[in-house]
Amino acid sequence: AHIVCEPCFDCKYTDCVVVCPVDCFYEGAQMLFIHPDECIDCEACVPECPVEAIFHEDNVPDEWKEFTPLNAEESPKCPVITEKKTALEGESCSGKS
Ligand code: SF4
Ligand code: F3S
Repeated sequence: AHIVCEPCFDCKYTDCVVVCPVDCFYEGAQMLFIHPDECIDCEACVPECPVEAIFHEDNVPDEWKEFTPLNAEESPKCPVITEKKTALEGESCSGKS
């Protein structure tokens, strides 16, 4: 599966959700999560993210390893998101895009 990591936090650009063929993005308050059982590893979302927040589970940077279980735990609790919306553009993402 693919994993949404730290750069998404307080940003939620949501460019990723539009291209996902299986609609497996779920919206948390501060960031998005991918449901690991639904993601088909098509990679379509990876280049869409302006802050490079999405990685294959085998390529998640060491400092963001905790996001793998976080996506699995949080995605089933959140509503699905399939349409782009206005980004949060919080402090943590400014300058990264
Ligand atoms: Fe959706 Fe493909 Fe990204 Fe998985 S890799 S979240 S299936 S767009
Ligand atoms: Fe987050 Fe990037 Fe999608 S910031 S909402 S993973 S486009």
